[in-house]
Amino acid sequence: MDYRIITAAEAASYINNGDGVGISGFTLSGTPKTVLPEVAKRAEEAHAAGKPFKINLYSGASTGDAIDGVLTKAGAIGYRAPFISNPTVRNSINAKEIAYNDLHLSLMAQDLRYGYLGKVDVAILEAIDITPDGKVYLTTAGGIGQTVVNLASKIIIERNSFHHTMGLHDVYEPADPPCRKEIPIYKASDRVGKPYVQVDPKKVVGIVEVCLPNEQVIFKELDPVTRKIGENVVNFIAGDIKRGIIPAAGLPIQSGIGNVANAVLKGLEECNDIPALDLYSEVLQDSVIKLMELGRVKAGSTCSLSLSQECLQHVYDNLDFFRDRLILRPSEISNHPEIIRRLGIIAMNTAIEVDLYGCVNSSHICGTRLMNGIGGSGDFARNAFISIFTCPSTQKGGMISSIVPMVTHADHTEHDVRVVVTEWGVADLRGKSPDERARLLIEKCAHPDYRNLLWDYLKITKTGHVSHNVAAALAMHATFEREGDMRATEWSKFV
Ligand code: COA
Repeated sequence: MDYRIITAAEAASYINNGDGVGISGFTLSGTPKTVLPEVAKRAEEAHAAGKPFKINLYSGASTGDAIDGVLTKAGAIGYRAPFISNPTVRNSINAKEIAYNDLHLSLMAQDLRYGYLGKVDVAILEAIDITPDGKVYLTTAGGIGQTVVNLASKIIIERNSFHHTMGLHDVYEPADPPCRKEIPIYKASDRVGKPYVQVDPKKVVGIVEVCLPNEQVIFKELDPVTRKIGENVVNFIAGDIKRGIIPAAGLPIQSGIGNVANAVLKGLEECNDIPALDLYSEVLQDSVIKLMELGRVKAGSTCSLSLSQECLQHVYDNLDFFRDRLILRPSEISNHPEIIRRLGIIAMNTAIEVDLYGCVNSSHICGTRLMNGIGGSGDFARNAFISIFTCPSTQKGGMISSIVPMVTHADHTEHDVRVVVTEWGVADLRGKSPDERARLLIEKCAHPDYRNLLWDYLKITKTGHVSHNVAAALAMHATFEREGDMRATEWSKFV
């Protein structure tokens, strides 16, 4: 089949008000780059003419400013799922201008197939190429590509000549119940699917030619606090290997997103007491490429190469080395509970706050303001061999404690949180009763400035299996909102 070469503006003309648009990519990686900014222009023109124009946008995870940012500024998003990280879209969601569905990333493709999120009218895939019989070779991320092309009636391909990921993808879509079978991945490096997404060539309305890198991820430099957290995590894992809890050959690791996650990977680089491991994760950052070259990471299974431009170029220049070691999977597979439980993954994710019994808030500041979303943290935490949550013990110059009596929003319950790590130490909550968990979290993880405040909270609680004072449980947050510093909390009025 001969495909039409079209401009981004023409491609955008196939997208109309109210359409569901599903795109390739995961984080800033592998997303289409030129068609959606043209959709934003269409929306601005429609709004200027007094007409409505909003799309429902479905992706594998977050996108960057060129998609979530530009579309939000144009007032062009009505509904968004499953994850964001861009400040512009975040503000709009928090202002209730966009309806947002914060989903476990493993569920996104499945929820679309099950019809929970409405229809997908148009799919846009960023690809290295498409063959006449409809084989689409994706660029730097798996995401939800296969699912959205199956559901959409129109497909747009952005052929991006910047990328060379040929041979890295392993595309597998499970059948839906009652026909679903075991996903036969028994180790991180197993390939079980096809190296391409199959589309029906008749649905392809055109190819837009581009040559553009991914948007750049910017991380803060590691500081003494994040460095110490990384060190604590790595020493904890090394200790569990020594004690025979983790097998001597090690288990695959998952590492979440953000500054703290980077510090943990840095810690792994510097620790010789941990054997070379596999990574089974949803994102793979520069530090893992370095660990692979050092022989510290054997295989990296991921949904997305979230790499800096220089690091991605380095991978492309050495593709023969990396092709055997890197596998790019759809998010439904990179985050699949069945595989995470089978492989026995050591999951490392970051918390916004943790309560005295081990419940974790990963997504909402003070219970109301969305930060990014739950992402893949729940997929991994619930099913991991060990689920570790990390965070600095305080935020905003010490005015906020990350260890609080009760979380203001619960993403991960105490049943899924096994170990909590701050720069002060490690609270190993495995097998512990609620009282023991509270004691460990105060002694090992809370900042010294907050330890007495937290001990004093426990003194005013009503005793039960879990001790709480329901009137006082969120008083530290209320004090912060009122006075700007949690340390000003007084328990006397709740006695
Ligand atoms: N109260 C108020 N603000 C808080 C806070 C709290 N308890 N905890 C964190 N923050 C703020 C920080 O101050 C910082 O704000 P800034 O951007 O204004 O500096 C911001 O949240 C990010 O925190 P930081 O300490 O820099 O950590 P991070 O970059 O590692 O991100 C999460 C932490 C929790 C936001 C991030 O890991 C996330 O979105 N996690 C959920 C998704 C996930 O876990 N995915 C994993 C699978 S890949």
